[in-house]
Amino acid sequence: MSTDEKRPSAAVVVTLDGPAGVGKTTLARAVAEALGVFYMDTGAMFRCLALRLGPGAEQLPPEKLREACGRWTFSLEGQGNGTRLLCNGEPVGDEIRTERVGMLASRIAAVPVVREVLLEAQRSLASAGSLVAEGRDMGTEVFPRARHKFFLDAAPEVRARRRLLELRQRGEEADVDELAAQIRRRDDQDRNRAVAPLRPATDAVVIDTSALNIDEVRELILRRIRERTDAPLSD
Ligand code: DC
Repeated sequence: MSTDEKRPSAAVVVTLDGPAGVGKTTLARAVAEALGVFYMDTGAMFRCLALRLGPGAEQLPPEKLREACGRWTFSLEGQGNGTRLLCNGEPVGDEIRTERVGMLASRIAAVPVVREVLLEAQRSLASAGSLVAEGRDMGTEVFPRARHKFFLDAAPEVRARRRLLELRQRGEEADVDELAAQIRRRDDQDRNRAVAPLRPATDAVVIDTSALNIDEVRELILRRIRERTDAPLSD
C-alpha cells in the first residue's frame, strides 16, 4: 500500500500545480497559513537535488543516479507560512532560487528514477497530516485522490514581469525579455517530457492569474476549498 493510500481520511491535501513563475510558492505559503497546515514546495526538492548533484547528473546511469539521490533526505518543520524544508537536516536556503538552478532542476526532473525517488519522499512527508502541495504533478501523479486541486496559469510575459519585480525586491536586475525566454524554455521542457508532464489534472480548478494579484488568487482558492469542505480545516 502506498503512503498516499495510508493517509488518515481526516487529512486534507490541497494541490497547486502550474508553470514556472506563476506564484505557486507564495500562494502555497499563504493558503497553508490561512488553513493552519504545512506546505510542501516540491520544486525546492528538485532544485536542491539538482544543485547538489551538479550539471550533467541527468546523464548518469539510472542506478548510479538513484544511489546519488538516496544520499539526500528531506524533512519539513513548522507549519503555515513558517514551514521549512530541510535537506539532510539542514535548512534549504536561497541558493536554490536562481534560474540556472531552476533549469538544472527541470532537466533532472525529466529522469524517471529521480521522479520515483522524490515521489516516494513527497508522499512520505505528506503522511504527517493536512498540507498544501505545490509543483507540476501534485494533482496528476503524486496525490491523484486529493480533495482540492488547483492549476494556476498566466502568460509567459506576465510571469516574466512578476519575476522581474521579485528580483528587484532582492536588489537584482534582469532583462524582462530574457526572463520570458527562460520561462518559455522551462515550460517547454516541463510540458513535453515523457514522465509526469506539466498539465492540469482533469478534476483541477484552472485559474488564469494573469489579471489577478496574489491576494485575489488566494481568496479564490480559499473560497473554493470552503465551499467543498463540510468542517473547517482549522479554527
Ligand atoms: O517550481 P520550481 O520552479 O521551483 O521547479 C523547478 C523545476 O523542478 C521545474 O522546472 C520542474 C521541476 N519540478 C517538477 O518536475 N515537478 C514538480 N512537482 C516540481 C518541480
